[in-house]
Amino acid sequence: MRFPATGVTGAWQGGPMRTFELTDGVVLLRAPGAADVDRIAALCQDPAIQEWTTVPSPYARADAESYVTGMVADGWANGTQLNWAVRDAAGGTLVGMVGLGMEGAGSAELGYWLAPEARGRGVMARAVDLVLDAAFGRLELARVFWRAFVGNGPSRAVAERAGFRVEGELRLGGVQRGVRRDEWVGSLLATDDRPRRVGERPAAGAAAREG
Ligand SMILES: CC(C)(COP(=O)(O)OP(=O)(O)OC[C@H]1O[C@@H](n2cnc3c(N)ncnc32)[C@H](O)[C@@H]1OP(=O)(O)O)[C@@H](O)C(=O)NCCC(=O)NCCS
Repeated sequence: MRFPATGVTGAWQGGPMRTFELTDGVVLLRAPGAADVDRIAALCQDPAIQEWTTVPSPYARADAESYVTGMVADGWANGTQLNWAVRDAAGGTLVGMVGLGMEGAGSAELGYWLAPEARGRGVMARAVDLVLDAAFGRLELARVFWRAFVGNGPSRAVAERAGFRVEGELRLGGVQRGVRRDEWVGSLLATDDRPRRVGERPAAGAAAREG
């Protein structure tokens, strides 16, 4: 394994998880907490996040609160969803979210969003790279899959740059706030080649700390 011992022995089989952090020295991934509620609520006002994700719309502060204290906390506690806030490693500012929805039997869904001001610099590429390192490293998953509503080019570009193979389009295959939309699907297997960006990924694997 590329990560220090964590109490997880062998492939993760489901069940409670202790939070862990991931960093490459530029971005820091740490589960969001109560102190992040206002920032998440502010960022989720972004029209693109509301257009392309399944966050509530309109988005209220209470939505951010229940996300952090409910979905995020329960997700880690039950091992069903592992969500991290994407932060600037230097200042700690929260600039986005990335997560794995654990499907069971070695498969998980990758999801993400970024603050508008953090886009266009490869921040999500770094965050996704760290999450995939964990997925195929310490979690020993066999497969990570990605879905996006058809037309979400920036999301598809992030997935394809990370090595995902877009496998097709599911007509009305996705649901957004009760309404069906066409979606793209893609996957990356543990056995697939992942593109390496020279100088960007620490050769010995990213540092990981227990939370
Ligand atoms: C999807 C989303 C996270 C992508 O953000 P992004 O800024 O394009 O992604 P990255 O941080 O990886 O940056 C990639 C951009 O930085 C550029 N870049 C610069 N340095 C880079 C590097 N080292 N590595 C990768 N890209 C780099 C890329 O060329 C790309 O810019 P371009 O789109 O002009 O070609 C963002 O558009 C978003 O939050 N959208 C709304 C929510 C959403 O759609 N979520 C996904 C739902 S499925």
